[in-house]
Order: sequence, then structure tokens, then C-alpha cells
Amino acid sequence: MNPYLLTNQLDRREFLSRGLAAGAVAGLGVKASGNDTVANSLHRGMPVAISSGNGLRATGKAMQMMKRGTDTLDAAIAGVNIVEEDPNDMSVGYGGLPNERGVVELDSCVMHGPTYRAGAVASLRNIKTPSLVAQTVMERTDHIMLVGQGALDFAKMHGFQEFNLLTENARKVWVRWKENLSPKDDYLGDSEMKGFERPTGTINCCALNEKGDLSSVTTTSGLAFKVPGRVGDSPIIGAGLYVDNEVGACGSTGRGEAVILSCGSRTVVENMRHGLSPEEAILDVLKRISEQTVDKRLLRNDGRPDFDVNFYAVNKKGEYAGGRIYKGGTYAVHDGRVNRIRDSIHLFDK
Ligand code: GLY
Repeated sequence: MNPYLLTNQLDRREFLSRGLAAGAVAGLGVKASGNDTVANSLHRGMPVAISSGNGLRATGKAMQMMKRGTDTLDAAIAGVNIVEEDPNDMSVGYGGLPNERGVVELDSCVMHGPTYRAGAVASLRNIKTPSLVAQTVMERTDHIMLVGQGALDFAKMHGFQEFNLLTENARKVWVRWKENLSPKDDYLGDSEMKGFERPTGTINCCALNEKGDLSSVTTTSGLAFKVPGRVGDSPIIGAGLYVDNEVGACGSTGRGEAVILSCGSRTVVENMRHGLSPEEAILDVLKRISEQTVDKRLLRNDGRPDFDVNFYAVNKKGEYAGGRIYKGGTYAVHDGRVNRIRDSIHLFDK
């Protein structure tokens, strides 16, 4: 074992006693929901593939490939490619919901544990699989992130084909949103759209193989109807995902602005480096996000955040968890034997 890791694991008692995590675990009525309990989510072992609730096909594919000896990053990316190319998932890749002008802009990043390398693209248009472009940035440049036109030029230089990513279904949802923005504009919207909530989504997949190597990928079309050029957490290393090959991996979905502010995935991994379990590590960060949300426009009447954030984490031992602020979240996990959807642990019942 890495002596640095051992030293840091010995600090766990001190870490907990400082209250960084104790409040999350003991003070907030932390609960596991449905068929998941803190105890039974602690199945240990390698390999593991964990993903967001829309990632059951991704975990299945990633596990199948890891069992054949495929590298963890290639396996995780092949998993999320299924969802990126699926026009029916309106939060990722082809078929994703567009920005406020009707243009689909995609964000993605990847991180490879064994080499501690990473790549990312943001506001990428016309390419169905931004995760593969992010991997190409990692492998074929000295940079971490390319954005906008530069990212598209780079993708084309490497042979990626351009497509119109706006499906008819996504276009219709965008038009209905636009028509119903204001009763005072010149678009004739329909009243049934009252209370329309902007759909959110994204997919993350973290993979741990039998050797204990880790990787992660996150990919998204981002916040539906966003301001053009808006970039969320998904392509940001440390926010949308983070991997420490000696410790574990974490990825996120949900309100990107909150994950960026908390350096969410990096903080979850740092918590695990200090010896916290994936559950404890996630709940600590969710608690901090909740406490540090003080802007009134982001708060419900009861003073809690009016948004949600999800983390998916696996440590080097193969312990894993998915967690979010409010009850009702799910995640996909393949533990090497069974591929299934599980209920996320949560801070608040409602
Ligand atoms: N978490 C995805 C986004 O905020 O864009």
C-alpha cells in the first residue's frame, strides 16, 4: 500500500472529530432509502462499475469490457457512449436538450487513474460522443480542456464526424419552452406548460478493475435551455469527476454550479483519502453544499436548497455509494456479479 495513503487513513479519527464528516453522518438524519441501506451498500470487492440512474447499460458494458481485460477508462467510455448515442436520453449527447437558441452544446471530461491524466471538452457542438473527444484531448495534446470552436476543430482533425444533434423531439421541447417563457412576448404558448421544470440529466461512470485501477467519465448536454456558452461541472476535473488511483473515484450529476463551488468530486475523493467510506464522503459534501447555499433565490421556504446534486463514488477496495441531497435518487452499479439500479442515500427525506 502507498505509505502516504496509510498515513492519511490513520488521520480518520481526527478528521471525524473535527466535525467535517460527523455532522453529515450523525446530525442530519442521514438515511438510506428504499432497498438500500448504509450497511448493504458496503459490498466490497473488485471490479465495480458505478453510474448515474440512467447508466444501467453503461455499467453493464463497462463491466463486460473490464472482464475481458479492457482498460478502465476505455470500458467506462464505451459504457457512456451507449447513452451519448441514444436519442431518447435528452440529457446527454445526441438528442440532448439544446441551449436557449436551440443549439446542442455538450460537455465532457475523462480521467485515467493509472496515468493521472485527464482530458475535457466544453460547449462542443455537432459531435455525438464528446467523451471520446475528451479522451483524445488527453491522449493527443499537452492540454486538459478544449472549448467551443477549438474543440470542434480538434475533433474534426481527429476524424470525428459532424451530426445535427438536435432531434425532432428535443426541438419540440425547446420550442414549447421558448413559446411559454413569457405571456408578454409574441410567441403563442399553451397554458399546459405552466409549472414546466427544466429537465436535468447527465451521465457519469466510474470503473474499478480487478487490479484496483480506476477511471471515470462524465458527459452531458448540460442544463436545458442554458445561456449559450454556459459550462457546468461535467467537463471540469475535480467537479464533474475526480480519480485518485490510490484512493477512489467520484463523479457527479445535478446542479453543476453547486458542484463547481464545492469542488465536489475532488472533495469526495479527498474525504475517502482521509479514510471516510464512500457514503460518509458523499454525505459530508452534500451537507456542505446544503449549508453553503445561502442565496435566497436558491432556497425553498424551509431554507433548504431548491435543487439537487448527486455523487457516485467507489473506493479502491470496491466499496461504493450513490448519494444526493433529497430522497428519491437512484444509481446504477455492477458489482461484478449483478448489474442493478439502487436507491441513493440522502440527506433529507424531502
Ligand atoms: N451537472 C450537469 C450540468 O450542470 O451541466
